[in-house]
Amino acid sequence: MEQTISKYAVDEQGYYGKFGGAFIPEMLYPNVEELKEKYLDIIYAPEFQEAFHGLLKDYVGRPTPLYFASRLSEKHGAKIYLKREDLCHTGAHKVNNTVGQILLAQRLGKKKIIAETGAGQHGVATATVCALMGMECIVYMGEVDMARQRPNVERMRILGAEVRPAKSGSRTLKDATNEAMRHWINNPNETHYIIGSVVGPHPYPDMVARFQSVISEEMREQLLLKEGTETPDYVVACVGGGSNAAGAFYHFLDEPEVQLVAVEAAGHGVDSGKSAATTALGRDGVLHGSRTILMQTEDGQVVEPHSISAGLDYPGIGPLHAHLFDSKRGIFLNATDEEAMVAGVELSRLEGIIPAIESAHAIAALGKLTFKPYDVVVLNLSGRGDKDLETYIKWGGY
Ligand SMILES: Cc1ncc(COP(=O)(O)O)c(C=O)c1O
Repeated sequence: MEQTISKYAVDEQGYYGKFGGAFIPEMLYPNVEELKEKYLDIIYAPEFQEAFHGLLKDYVGRPTPLYFASRLSEKHGAKIYLKREDLCHTGAHKVNNTVGQILLAQRLGKKKIIAETGAGQHGVATATVCALMGMECIVYMGEVDMARQRPNVERMRILGAEVRPAKSGSRTLKDATNEAMRHWINNPNETHYIIGSVVGPHPYPDMVARFQSVISEEMREQLLLKEGTETPDYVVACVGGGSNAAGAFYHFLDEPEVQLVAVEAAGHGVDSGKSAATTALGRDGVLHGSRTILMQTEDGQVVEPHSISAGLDYPGIGPLHAHLFDSKRGIFLNATDEEAMVAGVELSRLEGIIPAIESAHAIAALGKLTFKPYDVVVLNLSGRGDKDLETYIKWGGY
């Protein structure tokens, strides 16, 4: 992991353009300030880098393959590669970040870990690294998500974590994040909060993006070997909070010839009132500690989001993505529940890979882009579909 300076990187005050910052209650100020002061020194220390990359290699199974999907390519008329984050230990990209943050928590002398989770992949990845390091782990999860991602709830419990239901609001990711923040406010001293995406107060969005940036670092090396060039024409990724997309975009941010395509969840349709297409529907505001774009009513109340995929069912996006949208560096598309389910089955039939429904949104967006036959497209396949079997079965359209 190298330190790179990008014009899209966070500035010294913790901002991406006008987005970001740290809007936190006073009780959390010492924690967030400590993190801000120390995180770069800690994570770029040679000893940390050795531990981090050692675990990524031997525990997570990195580098993940860059797979040329020939039948998918034929269908969409471009050269499509899949970055196989679904093959990471625990089944998604989330573990790249939790490995980094647990090593950081140890170096901060923290004894207890809390996390929020939507799809349960971040919860499982957190419970996994806590088991690995022998640390106590509490994961907050919305009641609705506990029901639709039940295998992941049980995985967390087997791993020794306590799963606490969030019972307010839409009982999904936003509400779990609220509960985790509340817990942290009440237990600031001994607890580290492992946030699962590029959201939250500075320095979380930057820190999580750096841990996930291993994805695009590997993409460049792998593309050089396979295509003779480090840069693709397109990088496509789904966006919940935006961590897999941030990792996939990171080392291409300053190369404008690389089109960065972020795909949000449109739920029943952007204008249906049941959607999570933040950039299409939202405007500036503060959510979970940072200034970003979020879905809100006229008077600033957060609108309850909807997506069939628990990991994208969030009314905001991270501040980096808000900036990529605002500056037009990123192309923001969306896919409905139905389009994602169809695309998930399409990938299963064409390539023998059942994707997470989150990742299926990115696949659905391939049909919304116009490619030239020689375009090189890298789609970040953020996770595998095992956790979503119940949802695929309930949907039934295969
Ligand atoms: C497989 C998978 N992809 C994507 C996401 C969305 O998160 P992010 O936007 O932070 O990558 C999740 C969240 O749980 C997930 O499990």
